[in-house]
Amino acid sequence: MEVVVCESAEAAGALAADAVVALLRRAPEAVLGLATGSSPLPLYDALAGRCDAGEVSFARARGFTLDEYVGLPADHPERYRNVIDTELVSRVDLPADAVVGPDGLADDVPAACAAYEQAIADAGGIDLQVLGIGTDGHVGFNEPGSSLASRTRIKTLTHQTRLDNARFFDDDLDAVPTHCLTQGLGTIMQARHVVLLASGHGKAEAVHQMVEGPVSAMWPATVLQHHPHVTVLLDEPAAGRLQLAAYYRDTYRAKPAWQGL
Ligand code: GLP
Repeated sequence: MEVVVCESAEAAGALAADAVVALLRRAPEAVLGLATGSSPLPLYDALAGRCDAGEVSFARARGFTLDEYVGLPADHPERYRNVIDTELVSRVDLPADAVVGPDGLADDVPAACAAYEQAIADAGGIDLQVLGIGTDGHVGFNEPGSSLASRTRIKTLTHQTRLDNARFFDDDLDAVPTHCLTQGLGTIMQARHVVLLASGHGKAEAVHQMVEGPVSAMWPATVLQHHPHVTVLLDEPAAGRLQLAAYYRDTYRAKPAWQGL
């Protein structure tokens, strides 16, 4: 796991954008795994700027969203498929129909989840998966206790996650769905490169556990310790509880520029 402590969330987003741009230049038909939440916003802002500047094109790329609320109407602004349109798709040249997400309105949920796994496999797998992390260490919506081998499925959201996400629903906890569909931890582990962004003090303990704690379903992101190519991009507050922060800084400072992320 490579840990990079950046001077700001914007700087972390710019570094993540470097990785996406390098991938798309190398492989214009790359498959992106797209996360929602506030953590990836600096990345999506940077990508919009780079696309505007003609530095990168998403015209041949494809995207799979990470998770979705169950039961939100198709036109709800907080439906994650719509959030991705607002935050990324509408701001770059990625065709809208090249991005799909789990169907949170499916009647047959197991069939919809299996179809989503199949669609990812048919696309050749995810080349670069963007991730945030919840305050309780969840990735996607894989809450504490999730199987480390799980695949796309329905999950019950914890009270903490619903409290954290109420800010997207006018602070109305009752408006936050109780269930979601999410790529599993096993699904995420099959992405070829995972780029995880975290910012703010509220994420410091989850980041510490993810990078330095024992691998445990109680902190689902710790499964990433078993992944061969994970880049963790942090601002200073999110790095505040890392025991080996000085080592990570020294390592990154000494890294040759040609190596990339
Ligand atoms: C949400 C999403 C995750 C996200 C996480 C952190 O509930 N399902 O994909 O990474 O929680 O959200 P944020 O980035 O807004 O802090």
